[in-house]
Amino acid sequence: MPLEVYTDARAVAMRGAELFVDSVSAAVHARGRCSIALSGGSTPRATYDEIARRAGRDGSLWAGAQVFWGDERCVPPHDARSNERMARESLLAHVPIPARHVFPMRCLGDAEAAARRYEDLIREHLGARPRFDLVLLGLGDDGHTASLFPGSALLEEPERWVGVTRRSSESFTRITLTLAAINLAARVIFLVSGAGKADALQRALAGDPRAPASLVRPAGGDLYWLVDAEAARRPAASG
Ligand code: 6PG
Repeated sequence: MPLEVYTDARAVAMRGAELFVDSVSAAVHARGRCSIALSGGSTPRATYDEIARRAGRDGSLWAGAQVFWGDERCVPPHDARSNERMARESLLAHVPIPARHVFPMRCLGDAEAAARRYEDLIREHLGARPRFDLVLLGLGDDGHTASLFPGSALLEEPERWVGVTRRSSESFTRITLTLAAINLAARVIFLVSGAGKADALQRALAGDPRAPASLVRPAGGDLYWLVDAEAARRPAASG
């Protein structure tokens, strides 16, 4: 799997934006559309800003794009913790994407019902086997990705595409794409920066199953790790 190491977070964002635009353009050119699952968290924000700068006026690219989310916190869409809010502020507000092509992952109230609804929505737009053209992911310092946390039962979910989860440290529930959906993608791009991710990155790349990100292996697709030098630095050997 291609591991690309860049000098800093900005260089990761620049490369991430380049790969995003190339991927979406190729899919839209080939099939008239591109289904994208966006990541939450703070790292992708810089990439979204750069995508808006590069492709904010490319009407043909955005006419074919369908935007979904890889995971969401079950908070109101205007809440500062919302992944939808972050993506709208940094990207979607700055590109000519038709509102009917944007599918926020709303999950206030009954999260299980919201997960079922989102799975039905994916099936409606992507067909019986949800092959996203492009999935963007971040990496948590504990090795999680999307909202797939270490030890979660969702990591063993063989069928469902969207599941409900919760972190003991958080007051809100989350819904997330499962590995069953992510690993069907045509292309997955991880965006990772900062020294705090070094240990998780090393474990994920080494295939340590305790780091859920290590389980992202798109069977018929390609996988990119775009990381900065701080995240790529190997922790000093202990002892
Ligand atoms: C979320 C994200 C999550 C995120 C990682 C990294 O909803 O929190 O989907 O998986 O990508 O936690 O977050 P940072 O980029 O903020 O470090």
